[in-house]
Amino acid sequence: MSSLRVALVGCGKIGQKHLQALVHRRMLELVATVDVDLEKASAAAVAFDAAPYDSLEAALRDFPDVDAVIVATPSGTHRMLAEAALNSNKHVLVEKPMVLNAADARALVEIAEQRHRVLAVNQFNRLLPSVALALETFRQGRLGRFLQGSVSVRLSHLQAYYDAAPWRGTRSMDGGILFNQAIHAMDILLQFSGPIAEAFAFSATLTHQIETEDTLVGVLRAESGALLSVEATTSVADSNLEERVVVIGDQGSLVLGPTLQQVASWRVAGDDEDQVREEINQAPARAGWHSHADALEDFARAVGERETPKLSGRSALHAIEVIEALLLSCEQKSPVAVSQPKEYL
Ligand SMILES: NC(=O)c1ccc[n+]([C@@H]2O[C@H](COP(=O)([O-])OP(=O)(O)OC[C@H]3O[C@@H](n4cnc5c(N)ncnc54)[C@H](O)[C@@H]3O)[C@@H](O)[C@H]2O)c1
Repeated sequence: MSSLRVALVGCGKIGQKHLQALVHRRMLELVATVDVDLEKASAAAVAFDAAPYDSLEAALRDFPDVDAVIVATPSGTHRMLAEAALNSNKHVLVEKPMVLNAADARALVEIAEQRHRVLAVNQFNRLLPSVALALETFRQGRLGRFLQGSVSVRLSHLQAYYDAAPWRGTRSMDGGILFNQAIHAMDILLQFSGPIAEAFAFSATLTHQIETEDTLVGVLRAESGALLSVEATTSVADSNLEERVVVIGDQGSLVLGPTLQQVASWRVAGDDEDQVREEINQAPARAGWHSHADALEDFARAVGERETPKLSGRSALHAIEVIEALLLSCEQKSPVAVSQPKEYL
């Protein structure tokens, strides 16, 4: 593939996954690593013979010919860093969630489009074979009209997960169960439902010492009239239980679960359920860096071929609008209209 010159900003846990992806699939040339902790940037730079920096500004000053920037910093910094990169005419792949509110998301998408730069968001689950097959089947009309769907994200996160960095579990830098964890599954369900008109939820912080919610149960009404539900918690004891998406159409239905990589149920006329389950479920799990590599490839291809990436910023917008509405409804204790949904899906 192309030899795009990139800078990686944020050399923490997820930054490491991008580094592993870059080592295994040499699709991009890493020329600069950036972290406010210069030691981390230096350690990350070694294997690539890249130059380490403690700020994106300094890296772009020294490498004005960088084509693209990968942003893998705490979520509350994404707007500032992605905007700085876009305004320097760089293409940007930003970690999920793109940002923590809809106004920032729209602003980034607009800047990218004005500058004709690719803006992609690492919601890599859309690229999973299970999800891709489900979406293709739906888009072929084989599930019929979308009627009802649900997202169940039931994970086990110890307090130590939140204590690992001061930004975790904060409203301004991380977000709660929706922005941090459930956004992946919600993003997928929204591809089936189309625009959401109205949202209502209850949230609670049940087992963790954090500022944000660790548990939320909500309902959504799509513009089409379809109804959806969201159930999410990080308070499951012992170990992760499920990350499940249910899609009910008037001609067929499917369930991805207990992880998004698996098919639990596939009732589609003309398809052999056992065969689909076997084909999808027996493929090697796409854990660790593999999914990040898939997202980087989608990004690199979009930049190289001047196409819209499958993980485009614009297509990631609506999930943020819906999450914002769900959280607002928790505060207001009443249903909230979801703003400007039509143009994004
Ligand atoms: N795609 C996924 O499935 C996935 C999974 C987990 C986390 N994430 C996202 O990845 C992002 C990073 O999470 P993490 O777990 O790697 O966090 P982390 O705390 O392990 O790493 C973040 C790094 O960013 C650095 N940093 C902070 N502010 C910076 C700035 N202004 N400029 C440069 N560097 C800065 C920190 O020093 C740290 O090294 C978050 O947005 C998170 O939601 C995505």
